[in-house]
Amino acid sequence: MKINLPKFNGSFKNKSFISIEQLTKNSEIKKIFRVAEQMKDIVVRKKPSNVLNGYCIAELFYQPSTRTFTSFLAAAKWLGAMTIPIHGMSAYSSAVKGESIEDTVRTIHQTTGADLIIIRHPGDNSTEIAAQASYVPIINAGSGKKEHPTQAILDLYTIKNELGRMKNLKVIFLGDLKYGRTIKSLGKLLTIVDKNLQLFLVSPKILKMPKKLVKEWRVRGVKVHETESLLEVLPQVDVLYVTRIQKEWFEVERKLSLYRKLKMVYDINLKTLRRAKKKMVEMHPLPRVGEIAYEVDNDPRAAYFRQMRNGLYTRMALLKLILLGS
Ligand code: CP
Repeated sequence: MKINLPKFNGSFKNKSFISIEQLTKNSEIKKIFRVAEQMKDIVVRKKPSNVLNGYCIAELFYQPSTRTFTSFLAAAKWLGAMTIPIHGMSAYSSAVKGESIEDTVRTIHQTTGADLIIIRHPGDNSTEIAAQASYVPIINAGSGKKEHPTQAILDLYTIKNELGRMKNLKVIFLGDLKYGRTIKSLGKLLTIVDKNLQLFLVSPKILKMPKKLVKEWRVRGVKVHETESLLEVLPQVDVLYVTRIQKEWFEVERKLSLYRKLKMVYDINLKTLRRAKKKMVEMHPLPRVGEIAYEVDNDPRAAYFRQMRNGLYTRMALLKLILLGS
């Protein structure tokens, strides 16, 4: 099912944010980052804002989450909004009885007065379908294996803050590139801001990035190199973006023995990082399940905890831009 999502065309007001493909201009990304800096100030100075006072924001999560759920909830609260956080949609909502996502988002608006609904769902097209039916904007907080657009925003904001630039980047996406959604959204976002982007896709053959996306990136001028060997490409890159092998999708496909074989195929430790540049950033959307050793956490290049804090600032910015427009 392909739904044409409205492009932002410079304005986020009252629009759903479902896919990175809605962003087309550098200026839109810079606008989000400008507002994120203001949001950072609110949190760092511990001066909560009331700009969203009187607004109601609902979160409907059909899949587990720690970072996205809590950072959106905190983002709404730092800005003074009322919140309706629902974490167990798959177990406790009427979805269990077969209610459609279209009816659910309309229901949540009616029963809570929500002005904006944030959804995480296992279906690839779930949030697009929800946005078509909804009376209020929807934010995609992770949809199936396809997109996690707000994660991509915080990831790019992290790259900019850590390296001081968003151009002429050499980036490794490592791990589960087949099922992972964060790298698909981040790849799309990087192609907007960096005309000289070089992507190194490092994964076991069975977990390669879908061919369609690789083709799209090459058409946009990105130099894409696919390999199974991390050490072959690590010494030259600016960003090492690690992802976990995603057990949940192997469970769905009844391939758990294959998961056990692949689980530790990449194992980043301090010895691995000796092969990387001194000025480089190591990122991970988290959770990690062994692919980055704890000993790496104190290396200055390990940015994954700073990265998740950036999720709070950028999500505050997105809530403000969608609900207030500026
Ligand atoms: N990065 C991310 O989406 O983490 P959570 O699953 O904890 O939200």
